[in-house]
Amino acid sequence: MTNLEIDISKTFNFIDKDEVFGLQDEVSFVHKALIEGTGKGNDFLGWMKLPSQTDEALISRIEEEALRIKGLADVFIVIGIGGSYLGARAVIEALTHHMGSLLQDRTTPLILYAGHHFGEDYLIDLLDILDNREYALVVISKSGATTEPAIAFRLLKNHLEKKYGKHNARKRIIAITDKSRGALKQLSNEEGYATFTVPDDVGGRYSVLTPVGLLPVAVAGFNIRELLAGARDMEQLTTSSNRLEDNPAALYAATRNALYRKGKTVEMLASYLPSLNYITEWWKQLYGESEGKENKGIFPAGVNLTTDLHSMGQYLQEGLRIFFETVLLVKQTRGVLKVPEDQDNLDGLNFLAGKKIEEVNRMASLGTLLAHVDGGVPNITVQIPFLDERNLGRLIYFFEIACAYSGYLLQVNPFDQPGVEAYKKNMFALLGKPGYEEASAQLRKKL
Ligand code: PA5
Repeated sequence: MTNLEIDISKTFNFIDKDEVFGLQDEVSFVHKALIEGTGKGNDFLGWMKLPSQTDEALISRIEEEALRIKGLADVFIVIGIGGSYLGARAVIEALTHHMGSLLQDRTTPLILYAGHHFGEDYLIDLLDILDNREYALVVISKSGATTEPAIAFRLLKNHLEKKYGKHNARKRIIAITDKSRGALKQLSNEEGYATFTVPDDVGGRYSVLTPVGLLPVAVAGFNIRELLAGARDMEQLTTSSNRLEDNPAALYAATRNALYRKGKTVEMLASYLPSLNYITEWWKQLYGESEGKENKGIFPAGVNLTTDLHSMGQYLQEGLRIFFETVLLVKQTRGVLKVPEDQDNLDGLNFLAGKKIEEVNRMASLGTLLAHVDGGVPNITVQIPFLDERNLGRLIYFFEIACAYSGYLLQVNPFDQPGVEAYKKNMFALLGKPGYEEASAQLRKKL
């Protein structure tokens, strides 16, 4: 039992049920390719068995390291970009107290992020805060050579060494990188940092269930065994059947591809809880980098509702009809808060008095769904019962395997990202990296 429910009935105004279920043969074919490892990018399928095959020794080591960090730091910085931080952030933000940074009685370090952009003032502000905090960091880069995290790490390593001395600073740095290659691995060997490995056969955006995601999640105080157990539930369910009736990820992949083939080229992931904002960011990266290639792919966009109904809502309702919407719902909230009665009732809201805020949110989501469907936006809903580690683990694996199916249905390699190199080459040329002189001259002529 995975308790993840998918409903595609609100797409049937736009596509026939047969157009989805008619994809069963294609889905069976791509499912087989994934299970047997015969499809494109088949050297990057290690993520498929992480839930069932992550060994006890690794889990215990991550938990021990997290405990050690909790003992010496009030703040923990996760340095990484793309798949090297989004999975961890998605899980942590989904589970953390919304005002966690202001809690006085924290029992776990505050998690901050760096290395995911070149914002100078952000880094200045971060260093400013760290002057007066006990902190530690993890630097995560599979290649060990990505510029954004490398620069952030340089700055923070210098800061740590000045603050604690070179010897003690080393105890506050953890590196997660390739098992043998890359600048970060070499530096870690020389400095003696605690290290964890990103498996060779797991790409960045599929790495949340490796130490890349598990270590920060454990430092933040969450149960990584439950996260893996949830993913394992979904691994068992999805790898044991390719039938659209039994495999929710296959159904999701087939439905979104049926819609894409009918001209719905943009998928809007909509959620109604602010704690899911980074699930949306992680999902965007997973699907964008996996599918957008060879001039194909469903464009993954996201909205946080009802907030964005007051900005993007107009476009969703009446703009270009190129969208379909996937609504991510959580059945049960953590707490209970009801709309209070007001004696004067000047705002006219006493008809809501006594209702849970969650009920207002749910009616807003149902009302929006019906309005969007009437406005020409097909709708898929994905619902989980509750926001906890187990359900998040299930959701993560669901989206991962659906993404792999979907990439194969689009006949692209969902596990590479050749297009990401283009900006890097230009950036290095413009910054004067040795070896890029010719490219630099050509680019400058175009500026
Ligand atoms: O999904 C991916 O492969 C990318 O988003 C990478 O995670 C990202 O580019 C960071 O790469 P690295 O971990 O090598 O620094």
